[in-house]
Amino acid sequence: MKAATETPSRNLALELIRVTEAAAISAAREQGRGDKELVDQAAVDAMRQVLGRTDLDGIVVIGEGEKDEAPMLFNGERVGNGNLPEVDVAVDPVDGTRLTAEGRGGALAVIALAERGSMYAPGSLVYMDKIAVGEKAAGTIDINAPVRHNLEQVGKAVGKEINEITAIILDRPRNEDYVRRVREAGARISLIGDGDIQAAIATCIQGNGIDIMLGIGGSPEAVTTACAMAALHGEIQCKLWPRNDSERQYAADNGLDLDQVLTTRDLVDSDDTFFAATGVTDGPLLQGVGFGADYTATHSVIMRSRSGTLRFVDARHRVDWVEGDRRDLGIDDPGQRQRIGVEVGVRVDAVRPGIDPATRHRIAPAI
Ligand code: FBP
Repeated sequence: MKAATETPSRNLALELIRVTEAAAISAAREQGRGDKELVDQAAVDAMRQVLGRTDLDGIVVIGEGEKDEAPMLFNGERVGNGNLPEVDVAVDPVDGTRLTAEGRGGALAVIALAERGSMYAPGSLVYMDKIAVGEKAAGTIDINAPVRHNLEQVGKAVGKEINEITAIILDRPRNEDYVRRVREAGARISLIGDGDIQAAIATCIQGNGIDIMLGIGGSPEAVTTACAMAALHGEIQCKLWPRNDSERQYAADNGLDLDQVLTTRDLVDSDDTFFAATGVTDGPLLQGVGFGADYTATHSVIMRSRSGTLRFVDARHRVDWVEGDRRDLGIDDPGQRQRIGVEVGVRVDAVRPGIDPATRHRIAPAI
């Protein structure tokens, strides 16, 4: 037990939530317009603004966007206001830009931090083969083993028959072999269009029925996911997945071993990772942004690996503050306006007109 006098250390995730809330709100404004770039740009701009006011000296190690040439927080970019601590930063302003642009569920705004020098940088190899499981099955899986073996291991660990195990897989032609092998083994499948960060986290949240994530997805997402898995005591294993000979050559030239199994620890070598995500559109883990007449609602999750604490945070952001801030300052600055415009949690002091007495929430789910 810790001494009563020990000073609590700063939980950066509590501050990062403002970053993902701002990104999610901005991205969600562009939901359903069919324009991925617009969604990404809105989220990136908001993240950059709020990060600029946050007490940290960050270097973006994982700046998602390279693969799609999307607007991005670029690798090597300095973020934060320059105050300590020095950290590596992994950002995915929207994991699920296409989902948001098409008006589909399952998109998140995501950021993760860990000590400077702790994050794996996959360079230009933008895909990794991945397997991820929750705490009970951690330590039992092997990305090099047959799919059936891993499903059996997970089954034993979580106390399920193989036909009760659900594997979540990104729906891509390159993952068809996984789909076939899971079917042959007799397990169930949940196919997702996008968003394998959320999918990996789902294996760690009891009660949603997801037991294992399999398949080839983005490398940046793997490192970001590792920051969450460290906090959740789950496990992710990955291998770089080159698409062609020129990527194989790139790996050889840069000393990247394509056979190396990258563990959670290889992806982020830290005992103190921070992770924050806010729902952009409704998904299995988090509800998306809800735009109401008076408030905008956000739903977030934050984690820290040092303590293993997982917090779900519902916030309401006053629309009049948003508008006032824009008008008075002539800028669109979600971070600034959230400073005094947020009430955390579904806490409304009294039942006022327009407040749902059941949920004590003003905002109708708008999505
Ligand atoms: P973005 O929306 O951030 O581009 O990523 C969505 C996503 O589905 C990730 O969750 C996944 O890791 C990756 O794309 C897979 O890449 P691709 O869409 O190129 O198959």
